[in-house]
Amino acid sequence: MPVRAEGLPARVRIHEVGPRDGLQNESSLVPVEVKAEFITRLAAAGLGTVEATSFVHPKWVPQLADAEQLMPRLDGLTEAHPGLRLPVLVPNERGLDRALELGVTDIAVFASATETFARRNLNRSAGEALEMFRPVVQRAGQAGVPTRGYLSMCFGDPWEGPVPAAQVVDFGVRLLELGCTELSLGDTIGVATAGQVTELLAAFDRAGVPVGRIAVHFHDTYGQALANTLAALRCGVTTVDASAGGLGGCPYAKSATGNLATEDLVWMLHGLGIETGVDLRALVATSGWMAGRLGRPSPSRAVQALLGGTAG
Ligand code: HMG
Ligand code: MG
Repeated sequence: MPVRAEGLPARVRIHEVGPRDGLQNESSLVPVEVKAEFITRLAAAGLGTVEATSFVHPKWVPQLADAEQLMPRLDGLTEAHPGLRLPVLVPNERGLDRALELGVTDIAVFASATETFARRNLNRSAGEALEMFRPVVQRAGQAGVPTRGYLSMCFGDPWEGPVPAAQVVDFGVRLLELGCTELSLGDTIGVATAGQVTELLAAFDRAGVPVGRIAVHFHDTYGQALANTLAALRCGVTTVDASAGGLGGCPYAKSATGNLATEDLVWMLHGLGIETGVDLRALVATSGWMAGRLGRPSPSRAVQALLGGTAG
């Protein structure tokens, strides 16, 4: 019997990142038809937002170099699931051109709160990266395409250590000022703990950023992703990023492990009486199937429990 604690939202929107954040970090290349089936099954399981792929340089992320082949295979999915959004990552105008040519309707740019990660992930300083995004967000807006802004390394950075909240708020506000409709705060290497989440969200609140524009993106390196999510929900956040089966990491951030598993998140939310629209059993079956394709069990505790320890 679900029991909702006071101060929690009635509904949470899950931003599923498995096909992008998950698969970008797989050592093996997943065939395009498997990716298309993965996304189709995630949509059928009730996920209303499924981040499909990235239009980045194919040499930087070879795992997602098939974006041009993948997107046409998803034609018809949004008709089958009204309201379904299939955002893609776009770093620059070249990426935007590629995405718009394929009729993409939602994009995301990805900034860094630290200089080292900006250099490693985007080959420029954090400030230069924002300038690279400026025409992207502007042109996307003119085409009626909303842009989500990711901000990485919001709590800690493997090269620079702890990241001051003021630095994170500064970059977050600048991303929103570029015209991003939503800001996703990434704990890219999964080092945050709940008090830091509350502190950072309070700092954004003091800076005048409405909590409705903020999403949280936790990686589960130290097993803190669910606790951090609950802390964020208590602060009023209602959009949570997660990855089916706990797939994920980031190829340009050593020590980044998988994202918060969508199944673990859904188990907690449903137990709290919070609606997600997700069919947990269908989702678990999908992650079990994907684990089989990847040749290794899902790290998600909920997947393991619900598949009776036979995930994969
Ligand atoms: P660069 O080498 O500085 O690019 O890379 P450039 O602008 O100098 O261009 C060099 C060449 O690349 C040119 O070709 C461009 O046309 C081409 P040439 O004229 O020499 O023949 N090029 C492209 N080709 C295809 N698609 C493109 C593109 N752009 C340029 N979009 C760049 C800069 C941003 C492209 C590169 O650094 C890159 O692709 N980085 C992507 C890294 C990435 O995807 N990282 C993972 C995602 S972030 C993440 O996972 C974190 C997140 O999950 C949140 C969290 O957890 O914190 C979101
Ligand atoms: Mg990530």
